[in-house]
Amino acid sequence: MSLVKLLYEKPEKTLFTTPSHGQKLAIYEPLREMYKIDISETECQDPQEALERAQLRARAIYHTYSTTFLTNGSTSGIIAAVLSCTQVGDKVLIASNSHPCHFNAVRLAGARALTYDLEIDPEWGVPLETKPDVIDYYLSRYNIRTVIVTSPSYEGIISDIEEIKSICEKHSAFLIIDEAHGALYPFSDNLPLSAVNIADFTVQSLHKTAGGLNPTALLHCNCEIDVKPALNMFMTTSPSYPLLASIEANINYLDSREGRKEIDNLIIRLDKIRSKCRGCEFFGDDPTKVLIRVPGISGFELSEMLYEDFGIEDERTNEKSTMLLCGLGTDNKKLDRLQHVLSKL
Ligand SMILES: Cc1ncc(COP(=O)(O)O)c(C=O)c1O
Repeated sequence: MSLVKLLYEKPEKTLFTTPSHGQKLAIYEPLREMYKIDISETECQDPQEALERAQLRARAIYHTYSTTFLTNGSTSGIIAAVLSCTQVGDKVLIASNSHPCHFNAVRLAGARALTYDLEIDPEWGVPLETKPDVIDYYLSRYNIRTVIVTSPSYEGIISDIEEIKSICEKHSAFLIIDEAHGALYPFSDNLPLSAVNIADFTVQSLHKTAGGLNPTALLHCNCEIDVKPALNMFMTTSPSYPLLASIEANINYLDSREGRKEIDNLIIRLDKIRSKCRGCEFFGDDPTKVLIRVPGISGFELSEMLYEDFGIEDERTNEKSTMLLCGLGTDNKKLDRLQHVLSKL
Protein backbone atom coordinates (compact mmCIF):
# COMPACT_ATOMS: atom_id res chain seq x y z
CA MET A 1 0.00 0.00 0.00
CA SER A 2 1.27 3.50 -0.79
CA LEU A 3 2.27 5.76 2.07
CA VAL A 4 -0.38 8.25 0.95
CA LYS A 5 -3.11 5.59 1.31
CA LEU A 6 -1.78 4.11 4.53
CA LEU A 7 -2.11 7.43 6.36
CA TYR A 8 -5.88 7.28 5.88
CA GLU A 9 -6.26 3.68 7.09
CA LYS A 10 -7.93 3.37 10.50
CA PRO A 11 -5.59 1.59 12.95
CA GLU A 12 -6.85 -1.85 13.94
CA LYS A 13 -5.80 -1.31 17.57
CA THR A 14 -6.41 1.34 20.21
CA LEU A 15 -3.14 3.20 20.30
CA PHE A 16 -1.40 4.14 23.53
CA THR A 17 1.62 5.39 21.59
CA THR A 18 3.11 8.62 20.35
CA PRO A 19 1.92 11.06 19.14
CA SER A 20 -0.43 11.72 22.04
CA HIS A 21 -2.83 13.77 19.89
CA GLY A 22 -3.94 10.41 18.46
CA GLN A 23 -4.96 12.03 15.13
CA LYS A 24 -8.01 13.57 16.89
CA LEU A 25 -6.87 16.55 18.93
CA ALA A 26 -5.94 19.54 16.77
CA ILE A 27 -4.46 22.22 18.99
CA TYR A 28 -3.55 24.32 15.95
CA GLU A 29 -6.80 24.38 14.04
CA PRO A 30 -5.52 25.37 10.55
CA LEU A 31 -3.55 22.11 10.46
CA ARG A 32 -6.48 19.89 11.54
CA GLU A 33 -6.24 17.75 8.37
CA MET A 34 -2.53 17.27 9.02
CA TYR A 35 -3.10 16.10 12.61
CA LYS A 36 -5.46 13.45 11.22
CA ILE A 37 -2.67 11.81 9.26
CA ASP A 38 0.22 12.54 11.63
CA ILE A 39 0.98 8.97 12.62
CA SER A 40 4.00 7.34 14.21
CA GLU A 41 5.84 4.05 13.86
CA THR A 42 3.25 1.69 15.35
CA GLU A 43 3.21 -2.07 14.83
CA CYS A 44 -0.31 -2.08 13.44
CA GLN A 45 0.22 0.72 10.93
CA ASP A 46 3.89 0.25 10.06
CA PRO A 47 4.50 3.40 8.00
CA GLN A 48 8.24 2.56 7.83
CA GLU A 49 7.50 -0.36 5.53
CA ALA A 50 5.29 1.81 3.33
CA LEU A 51 8.07 4.40 3.26
CA GLU A 52 10.64 1.78 2.24
CA ARG A 53 8.37 0.67 -0.60
CA ALA A 54 7.74 4.28 -1.66
CA GLN A 55 11.49 4.88 -1.79
CA LEU A 56 11.98 1.71 -3.85
CA ARG A 57 9.39 2.97 -6.33
CA ALA A 58 11.21 6.32 -6.38
CA ARG A 59 14.39 4.46 -7.21
CA ALA A 60 12.64 2.98 -10.24
CA ILE A 61 11.35 6.41 -11.30
CA TYR A 62 14.81 7.99 -11.16
CA HIS A 63 16.83 4.85 -12.09
CA THR A 64 19.15 5.30 -9.13
CA TYR A 65 20.85 2.95 -6.68
CA SER A 66 18.81 4.63 -3.95
CA THR A 67 16.51 7.63 -3.61
CA THR A 68 15.82 8.83 -0.08
CA PHE A 69 13.00 11.12 0.96
CA LEU A 70 14.16 14.07 3.05
CA THR A 71 12.08 16.29 5.30
CA ASN A 72 14.88 18.65 6.20
CA GLY A 73 15.67 20.10 2.81
CA SER A 74 18.61 19.70 0.47
CA THR A 75 20.65 20.88 3.44
CA SER A 76 20.24 17.47 5.06
CA GLY A 77 20.96 15.70 1.75
CA ILE A 78 24.25 17.52 1.26
CA ILE A 79 25.28 16.77 4.86
CA ALA A 80 24.34 13.08 4.52
CA ALA A 81 26.14 12.76 1.18
CA VAL A 82 29.35 14.31 2.53
CA LEU A 83 29.21 12.21 5.72
CA SER A 84 28.65 9.08 3.59
CA CYS A 85 31.72 9.43 1.40
CA THR A 86 34.20 11.50 3.40
CA GLN A 87 36.45 10.56 6.30
CA VAL A 88 37.90 12.77 9.01
CA GLY A 89 40.82 14.74 7.54
CA ASP A 90 39.77 14.26 3.88
CA LYS A 91 39.77 17.22 1.50
CA VAL A 92 36.54 18.36 -0.11
CA LEU A 93 36.54 20.74 -3.08
CA ILE A 94 33.75 23.33 -3.15
CA ALA A 95 33.06 26.70 -4.77
CA SER A 96 33.66 29.63 -2.44
CA ASN A 97 30.13 30.99 -3.02
CA SER A 98 28.48 27.65 -2.15
CA HIS A 99 25.40 27.39 0.02
CA PRO A 100 26.40 27.34 3.74
CA CYS A 101 25.32 23.71 4.03
CA HIS A 102 28.33 22.68 1.91
CA PHE A 103 30.73 24.23 4.41
CA ASN A 104 28.75 22.90 7.36
CA ALA A 105 28.72 19.40 5.89
CA VAL A 106 32.49 19.43 5.50
CA ARG A 107 32.87 20.68 9.07
CA LEU A 108 30.55 18.01 10.44
CA ALA A 109 32.52 15.33 8.61
CA GLY A 110 35.75 16.58 10.19
CA ALA A 111 37.05 17.16 6.67
CA ARG A 112 38.86 20.15 5.14
CA ALA A 113 37.28 22.46 2.56
CA LEU A 114 39.36 23.55 -0.41
CA THR A 115 37.65 26.37 -2.26
CA TYR A 116 37.80 27.85 -5.72
CA ASP A 117 36.13 31.02 -7.03
CA LEU A 118 33.58 31.05 -9.80
CA GLU A 119 33.91 33.71 -12.47
CA ILE A 120 31.17 36.36 -12.25
CA ASP A 121 29.59 37.34 -15.55
CA PRO A 122 30.38 41.05 -15.91
CA GLU A 123 27.19 41.81 -17.84
CA TRP A 124 24.80 39.88 -15.62
CA GLY A 125 26.47 39.86 -12.22
CA VAL A 126 25.81 36.14 -11.71
CA PRO A 127 28.35 33.39 -10.95
CA LEU A 128 29.14 31.33 -14.05
CA GLU A 129 29.52 27.55 -14.30
CA THR A 130 32.13 25.40 -12.63
CA LYS A 131 34.74 24.80 -15.31
CA PRO A 132 35.87 21.14 -15.65
CA ASP A 133 39.50 22.23 -16.07
CA VAL A 134 39.35 23.97 -12.67
CA ILE A 135 38.22 20.69 -11.10
CA ASP A 136 40.96 18.85 -12.98
CA TYR A 137 43.53 21.39 -11.80
CA TYR A 138 42.65 20.84 -8.13
CA LEU A 139 42.23 17.08 -8.36
CA SER A 140 45.60 16.75 -10.11
CA ARG A 141 47.41 18.68 -7.37
CA TYR A 142 45.69 17.77 -4.14
CA ASN A 143 44.51 14.48 -2.76
CA ILE A 144 40.81 15.36 -2.86
CA ARG A 145 38.24 12.83 -1.74
CA THR A 146 35.00 14.61 -2.64
CA VAL A 147 33.89 17.36 -5.01
CA ILE A 148 30.62 19.27 -4.57
CA VAL A 149 29.28 21.26 -7.51
CA THR A 150 26.12 23.34 -7.58
CA SER A 151 24.34 22.90 -10.89
CA PRO A 152 22.06 24.61 -11.69
CA SER A 153 23.12 27.67 -9.80
CA TYR A 154 20.49 29.75 -8.06
CA GLU A 155 20.17 31.78 -11.26
CA GLY A 156 20.01 28.74 -13.54
CA ILE A 157 23.58 28.41 -14.78
CA ILE A 158 24.50 24.84 -15.68
CA SER A 159 27.89 23.13 -15.37
CA ASP A 160 29.11 20.28 -17.57
CA ILE A 161 28.44 17.57 -15.02
CA GLU A 162 29.27 14.68 -17.37
CA GLU A 163 32.75 16.06 -17.97
CA ILE A 164 33.23 16.87 -14.28
CA LYS A 165 32.16 13.32 -13.36
CA SER A 166 34.69 11.77 -15.73
CA ILE A 167 37.43 13.96 -14.21
CA CYS A 168 36.35 12.86 -10.71
CA GLU A 169 36.44 9.23 -11.84
CA LYS A 170 39.94 9.67 -13.24
CA HIS A 171 41.08 10.92 -9.82
CA SER A 172 38.93 8.49 -7.76
CA ALA A 173 36.98 11.33 -6.16
CA PHE A 174 33.30 11.28 -5.29
CA LEU A 175 31.04 13.81 -7.00
CA ILE A 176 28.09 15.38 -5.19
CA ILE A 177 25.84 17.59 -7.29
CA ASP A 178 23.73 20.17 -5.51
CA GLU A 179 20.70 20.18 -7.82
CA ALA A 180 18.53 21.89 -5.21
CA HIS A 181 17.15 24.19 -7.90
CA GLY A 182 16.77 21.51 -10.58
CA ALA A 183 14.19 19.03 -9.26
CA LEU A 184 12.17 19.30 -12.48
CA TYR A 185 15.06 18.29 -14.74
CA PRO A 186 14.48 14.51 -14.81
CA PHE A 187 10.97 15.06 -16.14
CA SER A 188 11.44 17.10 -19.31
CA ASP A 189 13.72 16.85 -22.34
CA ASN A 190 13.37 20.61 -22.63
CA LEU A 191 15.29 21.16 -19.40
CA PRO A 192 19.02 20.72 -18.74
CA LEU A 193 20.34 17.22 -18.09
CA SER A 194 19.81 16.11 -14.50
CA ALA A 195 22.73 14.77 -12.48
CA VAL A 196 20.68 11.99 -10.87
CA ASN A 197 22.17 9.32 -13.17
CA ILE A 198 25.62 10.89 -13.43
CA ALA A 199 26.91 12.05 -10.04
CA ASP A 200 27.56 9.72 -7.12
CA PHE A 201 25.10 11.76 -5.06
CA THR A 202 22.53 14.30 -6.23
CA VAL A 203 20.40 16.42 -3.96
CA GLN A 204 17.17 18.10 -5.07
CA SER A 205 14.77 20.37 -3.19
CA LEU A 206 11.19 19.53 -4.15
CA HIS A 207 9.99 22.65 -2.38
CA LYS A 208 11.92 25.12 -4.54
CA THR A 209 10.58 24.51 -8.06
CA ALA A 210 8.77 21.17 -8.05
CA GLY A 211 5.64 22.19 -6.16
CA GLY A 212 6.66 20.46 -2.91
CA LEU A 213 5.99 21.54 0.63
CA ASN A 214 8.79 23.19 2.62
CA PRO A 215 11.28 21.55 3.31
CA THR A 216 10.84 18.36 1.24
CA ALA A 217 13.80 17.13 -0.77
CA LEU A 218 15.48 14.04 -2.26
CA LEU A 219 18.90 12.46 -1.94
CA HIS A 220 19.76 10.28 -4.94
CA CYS A 221 22.70 7.91 -4.81
CA ASN A 222 24.30 6.16 -7.78
CA CYS A 223 27.07 4.30 -6.02
CA GLU A 224 26.73 1.35 -3.69
CA ILE A 225 26.86 3.39 -0.51
CA ASP A 226 24.12 3.19 2.09
CA VAL A 227 23.27 6.78 3.07
CA LYS A 228 21.08 5.71 6.00
CA PRO A 229 23.80 5.54 8.69
CA ALA A 230 24.79 9.13 7.89
CA LEU A 231 21.19 10.36 7.90
CA ASN A 232 20.46 8.54 11.14
CA MET A 233 23.20 10.51 12.85
CA PHE A 234 21.33 13.79 12.66
CA MET A 235 17.77 13.24 11.45
CA THR A 236 14.89 12.81 13.87
CA THR A 237 13.69 9.33 14.79
CA SER A 238 10.12 10.66 14.47
CA PRO A 239 9.78 11.84 10.87
CA SER A 240 6.69 13.61 9.59
CA TYR A 241 4.78 10.95 7.63
CA PRO A 242 2.44 13.58 6.14
CA LEU A 243 5.49 15.32 4.66
CA LEU A 244 6.98 12.00 3.53
CA ALA A 245 3.66 11.06 1.90
CA SER A 246 3.65 14.43 0.15
CA ILE A 247 7.03 13.51 -1.35
CA GLU A 248 5.61 10.24 -2.64
CA ALA A 249 2.66 12.08 -4.21
CA ASN A 250 4.95 14.82 -5.52
CA ILE A 251 7.29 12.56 -7.47
CA ASN A 252 4.42 10.43 -8.77
CA TYR A 253 2.90 13.63 -10.10
CA LEU A 254 6.19 14.80 -11.64
CA ASP A 255 6.51 11.42 -13.35
CA SER A 256 2.91 11.38 -14.60
CA ARG A 257 1.82 12.46 -18.05
CA GLU A 258 -0.05 15.37 -16.45
CA GLY A 259 2.98 16.51 -14.45
CA ARG A 260 5.33 16.29 -17.43
CA LYS A 261 2.82 18.21 -19.53
CA GLU A 262 2.57 20.92 -16.90
CA ILE A 263 6.34 21.34 -16.91
CA ASP A 264 6.49 21.54 -20.71
CA ASN A 265 3.57 23.98 -20.83
CA LEU A 266 5.38 26.21 -18.37
CA ILE A 267 8.50 26.15 -20.56
CA ILE A 268 6.47 26.95 -23.70
CA ARG A 269 4.72 29.84 -21.96
CA LEU A 270 8.00 31.27 -20.67
CA ASP A 271 9.61 30.96 -24.12
CA LYS A 272 6.71 32.98 -25.53
CA ILE A 273 7.14 35.62 -22.84
CA ARG A 274 10.83 35.85 -23.73
CA SER A 275 10.10 36.32 -27.41
CA LYS A 276 7.37 38.91 -26.83
CA CYS A 277 8.95 41.12 -24.17
CA ARG A 278 11.59 43.01 -26.11
CA GLY A 279 12.26 45.70 -23.51
CA CYS A 280 14.29 43.37 -21.32
CA GLU A 281 17.11 40.95 -21.98
CA PHE A 282 17.20 37.33 -20.82
CA PHE A 283 20.04 35.02 -19.80
CA GLY A 284 20.69 31.60 -18.26
CA ASP A 285 20.49 27.89 -19.15
CA ASP A 286 17.31 27.03 -17.28
CA PRO A 287 14.14 28.13 -19.08
CA THR A 288 12.10 28.10 -15.85
CA LYS A 289 14.22 30.83 -14.31
CA VAL A 290 13.47 34.26 -15.70
CA LEU A 291 16.81 36.03 -15.36
CA ILE A 292 16.37 39.54 -16.74
CA ARG A 293 18.02 42.90 -17.04
CA VAL A 294 16.86 46.17 -18.52
CA PRO A 295 19.45 48.34 -20.27
CA GLY A 296 20.11 51.57 -18.41
CA ILE A 297 18.97 50.48 -14.96
CA SER A 298 20.67 48.35 -12.31
CA GLY A 299 19.37 45.00 -11.14
CA PHE A 300 18.48 46.56 -7.78
CA GLU A 301 16.55 49.39 -9.46
CA LEU A 302 14.73 46.85 -11.61
CA SER A 303 13.90 44.76 -8.56
CA GLU A 304 12.55 47.81 -6.73
CA MET A 305 10.52 48.89 -9.75
CA LEU A 306 8.98 45.43 -10.06
CA TYR A 307 8.15 45.44 -6.35
CA GLU A 308 6.91 49.00 -5.88
CA ASP A 309 5.32 49.78 -9.25
CA PHE A 310 4.08 46.36 -10.35
CA GLY A 311 3.67 44.38 -7.13
CA ILE A 312 6.08 41.62 -8.18
CA GLU A 313 8.70 40.18 -5.83
CA ASP A 314 11.72 38.52 -7.42
CA GLU A 315 13.71 35.60 -6.03
CA ARG A 316 17.21 37.08 -6.26
CA THR A 317 18.84 40.28 -7.44
CA ASN A 318 22.34 41.60 -8.04
CA GLU A 319 23.83 44.83 -9.36
CA LYS A 320 23.16 43.89 -13.00
CA SER A 321 20.11 41.63 -13.12
CA THR A 322 17.22 40.06 -11.27
CA MET A 323 15.71 36.57 -11.31
CA LEU A 324 12.06 35.55 -11.10
CA LEU A 325 11.62 31.91 -10.18
CA CYS A 326 8.93 29.79 -11.84
CA GLY A 327 8.03 26.15 -11.36
CA LEU A 328 5.11 23.84 -10.71
CA GLY A 329 2.34 26.08 -9.44
CA THR A 330 3.28 29.11 -11.51
CA ASP A 331 -0.13 29.19 -13.13
CA ASN A 332 -1.36 30.97 -16.23
CA LYS A 333 -2.72 33.87 -14.21
CA LYS A 334 0.73 34.57 -12.79
CA LEU A 335 2.33 34.11 -16.20
CA ASP A 336 -0.18 36.53 -17.77
CA ARG A 337 0.77 39.05 -15.11
CA LEU A 338 4.47 38.46 -15.75
CA GLN A 339 4.03 38.94 -19.51
CA HIS A 340 2.00 42.09 -18.96
CA VAL A 341 4.59 43.59 -16.63
CA LEU A 342 7.68 42.58 -18.65
CA SER A 343 6.14 43.97 -21.82
CA LYS A 344 5.96 47.38 -20.12
CA LEU A 345 9.66 47.47 -19.29
C1 LIG B 1 22.16 25.97 -4.11
C2 LIG B 1 21.45 25.58 -2.85
N1 LIG B 1 21.77 24.44 -2.24
C3 LIG B 1 21.16 24.02 -1.12
C4 LIG B 1 20.18 24.78 -0.54
C5 LIG B 1 19.51 24.28 0.71
O1 LIG B 1 18.24 23.81 0.34
P1 LIG B 1 17.08 23.54 1.39
O2 LIG B 1 16.45 24.85 1.68
O3 LIG B 1 16.16 22.60 0.64
O4 LIG B 1 17.68 22.91 2.58
C6 LIG B 1 19.80 25.99 -1.12
C7 LIG B 1 18.76 26.83 -0.51
O5 LIG B 1 18.49 27.93 -0.89
C8 LIG B 1 20.45 26.41 -2.31
O6 LIG B 1 20.15 27.57 -2.90
